[in-house]
Amino acid sequence: MAHVVVTRPLIENGLKELQDAHTVTVCDPPEGAARSEDELIKLASDADVLLTVLADPVTERVFEACPNLQMVAQYAVGIDNIDLDAAAAHNVVVTHTPGVLTDATADMAWALLLGAARHVTAADQYVRDGTFERWETTLLLGTELADKTLGIVGLGRIGAATARRGLGFGMDVVYHNRHRANPTVERQTNAEYVALDELLATSDVVSLHCPLNEDSHYLIDADALATMKDTAILVNTARGAVVDENALVEAIGDGTIAAAGLDVFEDEPDVHPGLIEQERAVLAPHLGSATTEARTKMAHMCVASITAVLEEHDDVPHRAVENGSQWK
Ligand code: DGY
Repeated sequence: MAHVVVTRPLIENGLKELQDAHTVTVCDPPEGAARSEDELIKLASDADVLLTVLADPVTERVFEACPNLQMVAQYAVGIDNIDLDAAAAHNVVVTHTPGVLTDATADMAWALLLGAARHVTAADQYVRDGTFERWETTLLLGTELADKTLGIVGLGRIGAATARRGLGFGMDVVYHNRHRANPTVERQTNAEYVALDELLATSDVVSLHCPLNEDSHYLIDADALATMKDTAILVNTARGAVVDENALVEAIGDGTIAAAGLDVFEDEPDVHPGLIEQERAVLAPHLGSATTEARTKMAHMCVASITAVLEEHDDVPHRAVENGSQWK
């Protein structure tokens, strides 16, 4: 029997198959901030398998301190919290959950986009505050999306799903990627490949879908924000540190851009106070994959990968091989 350590409780019954066959320890979430390296080491020191979430720092030190570790099964598609080189050096298999959270995350990008374009959170607050006394001709005027340009940064699975939704709203789509997407994806999304600067300068909505790595860290900095239209909306459902949050707070504050819809933050779960105060920022607590459907499938994928490793199958499904390096 292997020891599987799960760093957060998962969706009900998500691990049933695993629990029938192995010793599974499900840890409670840490108080307050994200779990530290030391806390993770304490939980995982005798684990054969570690099932992680994006807040767990799976570093070289963790691999060194957990000598039995055969695999890390990440309950997410993004793996920027895992040192893949260190995993390889310690012969630890890393898997993740691509594909099953694509629609959930694209829906969330659109929820934030529409929320920002039509002031949905401010409108909700207005009604709850009892301020709605009569219909007004200029109350909370938003912006329409039809015939506007949607700029997708990172036309992978989630970027493409977000782009396809844009077609339904009558938007023109441009994208920027580290490599040009294949012709089928370009056809399905009707997306035109452009340089990043051109995308920033011409898009009415810029939606981020690239992985976080050293090339994409602060990709959207003060210069990038200054390149955007002053009417533009920035949407981020990728990773917080793709955007320089200080620069973003200034850019929304001084009207460099119009608004932002953010599901992710640089220092989660902490959020920049300037964003909290900013009415033109629509904020969510990293809910991209938070649908019952996606979270259930993510659990099944983790279980399938873990079973394959523990039963020594030749092929381990959903292996994570790279973190989209040099994506630019
Ligand atoms: C992912 O899968 O990387 C998401 O950010 C988690 O919801």
